[in-house]
Amino acid sequence: MDIMTMMKDNFKDCFGDAVNTRTYFSPGRINLIGEHTDYNGGHVFPCAISLGTYALVADRTDNKSRIFSINMADKGVIEFPMSGLKYDRAKDWANYPIGVVDVFEKAGYKADHGFDIVMYGTLPNGAGLSSSASIEVLMAVILNDTFNFGIDMVDMVKMSQQAENKFVGVNCGIMDQFAVGMGKKDCAILLDCNTLEYRYSKLAIDGYSIVITNTNKKHSLGASAYNQRRKQCEHALSELQQVKDIKSLGELTNAEFDAIADKVSDPLERLRARHAVYENQRTLEAVAALEKNDIAKFGKLMNDSHVSLRDDYDVTGVELDTLAEVAWQQEGVLGSRMTGAGFGGCTISIVKNENIDDFKKNVGEIYTKRIGYEPSFYVANIADGTHKIEN
Ligand code: GLA
Repeated sequence: MDIMTMMKDNFKDCFGDAVNTRTYFSPGRINLIGEHTDYNGGHVFPCAISLGTYALVADRTDNKSRIFSINMADKGVIEFPMSGLKYDRAKDWANYPIGVVDVFEKAGYKADHGFDIVMYGTLPNGAGLSSSASIEVLMAVILNDTFNFGIDMVDMVKMSQQAENKFVGVNCGIMDQFAVGMGKKDCAILLDCNTLEYRYSKLAIDGYSIVITNTNKKHSLGASAYNQRRKQCEHALSELQQVKDIKSLGELTNAEFDAIADKVSDPLERLRARHAVYENQRTLEAVAALEKNDIAKFGKLMNDSHVSLRDDYDVTGVELDTLAEVAWQQEGVLGSRMTGAGFGGCTISIVKNENIDDFKKNVGEIYTKRIGYEPSFYVANIADGTHKIEN
């Protein structure tokens, strides 16, 4: 059954016939390079992908909304009012869209009625491909489109991040929501997270594809370790600020950092800061290489990024390391690295088209033997950001 038919059927079961509905799509994202740099005032280079979240939406006449996720069917239909919202654990995944409604209301964008919504996601769950940002920006676009608020996408991106930071309570940076909202077909986005200046860079990797490999690791301690890395970088920065007038680690070149690195008293924090600085410079170098059609160099810098995330930032783990290290040995692979926060989730690899089948077979076999369960593979299609689908 196709996705639209399935969504309409679910809509009918939950809310009655799907008449006067609108359909929206919001992508997930991969980050090509520039990891754990966004909250350190550095650069990132992500793109939106064609896997993401669909919403089938009908207006209600009252102030209530009802929302159902086909992926989270066991949570049932979740109801909420369109104003005066508070985080409610019992509402589970729906806190993401609810948080966006709350941020809109607080910014003066009041919804004068609610919705019935069915959502369906094609992103693998908990795989670090930003399913939460996908849902947040999706809700922002639904609100903006329905009530003609006229908010531009970058502001909706910021409001979606705010929903995640303030309402849901996850202290993420701006990268995921930005990639989801501002994505452009066949392009990656070079974003300066300090200024939010950005530009698109065409992904000309003819003859090659980006293969996403999911570790399928079930549980991870991602959120607490993520916040701890942030704190370590913030503390390292505060010590460096004693000797240098900087606002973020992203302002330093590698040489500038090396010259004052000993001012960071804790050796672990020094490594964390080193990653943030080096990864930012590596990102700029990688984009320059890509734009000169030197994808071999781009791939090599992806590998270096993984090593730095493994050794200096310590966010990889045996599953991601196995995937990356086995990928490096395969024929036709230019580069491979973890993408997203780490601690599980996915790697991305640039693989020559004719080698993709062997890549899946070999990496799949070795990973399964070492880790005990299978990884999954997806060939990434680089897609547009969140939008309404014309019926
Ligand atoms: C998560 C966060 C992002 C970013 C990445 C790491 O995806 O949501 O803001 O920090 O981790 O690069």
